Amino acid sequence: MSKLYINGGSRLSGELIVHGAKNSVLPILAATILCKGECVIHNCPNLSDVDSSVRILEHLGCSCRREGSTIVINSDGLSRFDIPDELMQEMRSSIVWLGAIAGRLGRARLSSPGGCELGPRPIDLHLSALGRLGMQIIDNHGYIDCVAKGRLRGNDIHLAFPSVGATENIMLAAVYAQGKTVISNAAKEPEIVDLQNFLNRAGARICGAGNDKIIIEGVRSLHGAEHTVIPDRIVTATYMSAASVTGGEVLLKGVLSEQLLSVISVFGEMGCDVSYSHNEIKLSAPHRLSRFSGVQSLVYPGFPTDAGPLIVAAATVAQGSSMFIENIFENRYKYIGELRRLGAKIKTADRVAVIDGVDRLSGARVNSTDLRGGAALIIAGLAAHGKTEIDKIFHIDRGYENIEENLRQLGADIKRK
Ligand code: EPZ
Repeated sequence: MSKLYINGGSRLSGELIVHGAKNSVLPILAATILCKGECVIHNCPNLSDVDSSVRILEHLGCSCRREGSTIVINSDGLSRFDIPDELMQEMRSSIVWLGAIAGRLGRARLSSPGGCELGPRPIDLHLSALGRLGMQIIDNHGYIDCVAKGRLRGNDIHLAFPSVGATENIMLAAVYAQGKTVISNAAKEPEIVDLQNFLNRAGARICGAGNDKIIIEGVRSLHGAEHTVIPDRIVTATYMSAASVTGGEVLLKGVLSEQLLSVISVFGEMGCDVSYSHNEIKLSAPHRLSRFSGVQSLVYPGFPTDAGPLIVAAATVAQGSSMFIENIFENRYKYIGELRRLGAKIKTADRVAVIDGVDRLSGARVNSTDLRGGAALIIAGLAAHGKTEIDKIFHIDRGYENIEENLRQLGADIKRK
């Protein structure tokens, strides 16, 4: 298993184009099975989670071919409605296939998605919502069996929590339902808007994504469509944090700045000079960061939970004490033990983390615990004096394309061996 080796202390500077959003391309790839004919999806990042999605499409009988960052899918050969355990376990977000398969075929059988590093990851909101559309759900010894008695029927669905995945699953299942489906308390993340835009381009009739009420008018069929995936806002935040801990300067291109206002605000509080236009963000860091006083993760447009590890890593070398409160996932702090091995001074109590900035971190051997926790270790390793060795980097490869090449391009001393 390869590892990342970082020799910390180099100042990062330069510019990067940010790749497409993992959390947008995954539901859109699932959505292509609703379309008859060929879909062409551009700006697909080269990530292991995207590879897993392609394997699921091919398992279901679709044809897929990748041409650089474009993936061409034809679902006319769709012949199965099940996703076996080995494919489901590759990726937690596979649950979004439930709505797509059930929406197209009226039948779906998925191995129950396990928990993940962030906690149990329940799917109760998904299942109760699909039940309201007329799916009969049988939780069957590790498999979820969904059967529609005839055509699904539109319905009013209120989400007790604005779950991103549940919102996506309802949109996918409701596309072909008879009549209107109204989702209230829907998730408002940009990836939901991107999914709506793709589906409407294929002939769906959905409005309201980005707000807390989404309306889906059922249609009889969708045709193939061409779509370009939005840039990855969490990857953007990652490179901002990497530059910030090295006193560096970075120009990030191909971004959507208005999706990152909460993140930009925190780096501003930490003493960075952040300027931005619609598609570019420029961050210039001070010699030493200042602490952020108190940040808590919230649903969009609040501060994103996935960027929490990124600013916690930056706070480890800031002047002063910072406090972060994680409100979305119950087990998001596993990476903090690994940051402590680098010399970080962090105390946690339940969902609260207090980070006392230190003058210097020291390189060490650490293990990536999850996707964004792994990114936090890279950030800390860039700041640390000496060599840092990061193992279990398969977590990081789920969400970052060519991360070590990109960081090397900015001046980091990092390699994968
Ligand atoms: C999506 O996960 C993202 N993943 C996550 O990104 C992101 O952290 C999360 O949204 C929040 O923004 C993808 O889009 C593939 P949720 P999802 O359903 O849909 C609880 C990354 O690093 N909940 O909004 O699973 C759940 O336990 C990943 O890229 C229920 O209780 O998130 C959690 O506490 C990590 N019952 C909260 O809601 C349910 O049925 C938020 O979950 C569903 C969720």
